[in-house]
Amino acid sequence: MTAWLHCLLGVAVLVTGTSTASYQRQLLVDLLKYYNTNERPMNLINQQPLEVRLSVQLQKVIDVDLSVGEMKTSVWLSMTWSDYNLAWTPARYHNISSINLPAEQIWTPDMKFFNGITPEKVEQTLTFVSASGRVMLVQPRSLSTVCQASGFLYPFESISCPLVVGSWTHDARNIDIKVDKSTLGETGDVGTWQVKNIESEKVVKVYDCCPQPYSSAAVTLHLRRRSTLLHLFRIHIPLIWVVIVSLLTFCIPCERVEIRIVAGILLVCGAGWFQSSAHLPSYFTVTHIFCANMIVALSLSIAINCLQMALQENSMPQGMTQALRIHLGKALASDFALKIAMISKAEIEGPPRDKTGPAAIAQFLDRIGINLVAFIVLLNLIFCCILPWIAS
Ligand SMILES: *[C@@H]1O[C@H](CO)[C@@H](O)[C@H](O)[C@H]1NC(C)=O
Repeated sequence: MTAWLHCLLGVAVLVTGTSTASYQRQLLVDLLKYYNTNERPMNLINQQPLEVRLSVQLQKVIDVDLSVGEMKTSVWLSMTWSDYNLAWTPARYHNISSINLPAEQIWTPDMKFFNGITPEKVEQTLTFVSASGRVMLVQPRSLSTVCQASGFLYPFESISCPLVVGSWTHDARNIDIKVDKSTLGETGDVGTWQVKNIESEKVVKVYDCCPQPYSSAAVTLHLRRRSTLLHLFRIHIPLIWVVIVSLLTFCIPCERVEIRIVAGILLVCGAGWFQSSAHLPSYFTVTHIFCANMIVALSLSIAINCLQMALQENSMPQGMTQALRIHLGKALASDFALKIAMISKAEIEGPPRDKTGPAAIAQFLDRIGINLVAFIVLLNLIFCCILPWIAS
């Protein structure tokens, strides 16, 4: 009994399946038999221009090159219009209410980005056609458009770049563009440029070539450069470092030529960092840690050296020197500080000496400075060079 029922059901499905297919074939024949892809559909009732609704969905800002004035983007261009040649009565075709047709087989508006520099890459897709004759076409396009903006505030600049899209040959009397709100795609907001806002408006303009006005959609992308790790390492850290080191050189007395030379070399290193950091990737790497540690170590060493010299040469205001001597002397005379500075008890307890005197403090600072730098460099070598090398 059940087998019989199953068989009956199967036949029923087969019959409806084949009939829908044959209705679809009939529908395609009826729609496309006399269809001419060059015939622009018109508004039959009031003879008004064909209304094409346009919207741009920004998928990704790939690159903005302000030196050349060029923006590369990937967008979805959505177009919707009515084609009376593609309307049918669903009841006559087994209630088929929509079909998908290749864009090459029907008339499509010749939309083009007016401010494009290189030819657009247009991905051919199917159109969605409903029984009322409404056609929707969504085309993924890769664009390279003109963007003239000032990059003066790099890396903190905010720019606005336009995307102007309209029919290349049909003027406003043939095609009237209605601009829908342009949006940001789901995966659109990644990369160097943060999309702050997208505005879209309709523009009707007369061009030099022709007397008739053309309507187009002007989509303005408001972008802001994301602050990345790259900027921190390429610009901010080197700049701050150079400022600090150059200020510290004022503490060095003229006679200490060798230290002035060292400071000079450090400054040159800082300037060189601008160049070398251009090759660092924008994600966080062990190289960043290594470079940051080296900068900290070198800066600490020069700072400690300056402090030591300032104390020795008495080049600071008297009150400050006195306060520093008292506090540093106390701190540096502790057992912990002695251990860090690798000063043995015998060394202190040997000949009688002033624990908080200039000589003792200078010795402490000297040792601590050297030990600190050696310690950081050693850690750096182990954790940033040797361990990653073994792990690889
Ligand atoms: C088509 O739809 C109408 C109304 O919904 C319905 O009465 C009819 O049975 C449908 N025809 C087919 C072949 O499904």
